[in-house]
Amino acid sequence: MREKASASDLLAWYDANARVLPWRVSPSDGAAGLRPDPYAVWLSEVMLQQTTVAAVKAYFTRFMLLWPTVEALAAARDEDVMAEWAGLGYYARARNLLKCAREVAAMGGFPETREGLQKLPGIGPYTSAAISAIAYDAPETVLDGNVERVMSRLFAVLEPLPDSKEVLRGHAASLTPLSRAGDYAQAVMDLGATVCTPRSPTCGLCPWRAPCLARAQGVAETLPRKVPKKPKPTRLGIAYIARRADGSWLMERRPDKGLLGGMLGWPGAAWGEERIAAPPLEANWQALTEEARHTFTHFHLRLDVHIAHLPENTQVDGLEFIPKHAFKQSALPTVMRKAFDLAQSAFDNSL
Ligand code: ADE
Repeated sequence: MREKASASDLLAWYDANARVLPWRVSPSDGAAGLRPDPYAVWLSEVMLQQTTVAAVKAYFTRFMLLWPTVEALAAARDEDVMAEWAGLGYYARARNLLKCAREVAAMGGFPETREGLQKLPGIGPYTSAAISAIAYDAPETVLDGNVERVMSRLFAVLEPLPDSKEVLRGHAASLTPLSRAGDYAQAVMDLGATVCTPRSPTCGLCPWRAPCLARAQGVAETLPRKVPKKPKPTRLGIAYIARRADGSWLMERRPDKGLLGGMLGWPGAAWGEERIAAPPLEANWQALTEEARHTFTHFHLRLDVHIAHLPENTQVDGLEFIPKHAFKQSALPTVMRKAFDLAQSAFDNSL
C-alpha cells in the first residue's frame, strides 16, 4: 500500500531545511521555547500578500528598525509609512497596515484567535490563519499559492484552480497537525518555494515523494492546472513632471481610495483608452520620445512623459511642490519612479 503523507515527515524535513527568514523563529529556537513576535508575524504576512519573499526581506527589516513595535507603527506619520512602503505595490495594504496598527495599539495587543484577527483591517482569511498558526501555534489551515501547488500534486487534483480551491483546502486541513502548526504551515510554504517549485520540481529531495500521487502519475510539473486568465488590457496616460527653478518637484498626492491611493505621484494620471490628461498648468511642456511602461494586476499601462521647467514662485492649486531636500525617488510607487527615471536624464540634458 502507498505510504500516507504525514505532517511529521514534513516537520522533520523542515527541522533540517527551514529557510532562514528575518521574521521567523527557527525550528531549533522554537523547540527551546522561543515564540515569534506577533507584530513581526503580522507585518511579514501583510507584506507577503502578493509579494515574494525575496522582495519583502529588505522592507521588513527596515520597518522593524524604524517601528519596532505595533505602538511605534501606530504613532508613525501616514506619509512616512507610505514612503517606506513605496515599491512594494498594492498600496491599500499600507493604508490598512496603519489602520490595523492603530486599532491593535488601542486594544493593547493583537487578538489571539483567527476570528479576532479577521475583524482587523487588511486581515483576510489567509492572513488570519497564517498569524494564528505562526504566532500562536493554532492548528489553522493556511492556504497560499505554494500550499495549493503542493496539495494539488500530493493528491493529484486535476480540476483547475480556482474551482479546486476548496478541495485543496480540505486536503491541507487533513494534514494540519495539532502541535507545531506554525512550523507546519511554514514548512509547506518552504517546500513549495524550494522543492515543489512550479517548474522542474526536485522530487528527489521531497519528504513526501513516496505518497505523492502526481509524481507517481508523472504529472507533477503540470499541476496545479489553472483556468486561463483573461488577457490584460492596455491603458494610456501622461505623466507631467515639472521642476521649479528652486529645484522642487510638482506632485500630487492621490486620494486614499483606489489605485496607488495615498501615494505621491506625477499629475496627469487619468488613465484610459486615450491619452486625454490636460497639463496641470500652462508651461513649455516637452514630450519625451520614450514612454514609461508598467503592469498592474488588471492592466498594462503606457505613460507618455512630458517635462517642463517652471519659474520660481509658481504655485498650482491642489498640487504640492516637494522641495529638493525632501524629494526621495525611493518614496515613489514603481510606475512613478519609472517615469521619473526617464525624465531625470532629459532634465540633466536640458540644463
Ligand atoms: N509566504 C507567506 N508567508 C510566509 C512565511 N511565513 N514563510 C515563508 N513564506 C511565506
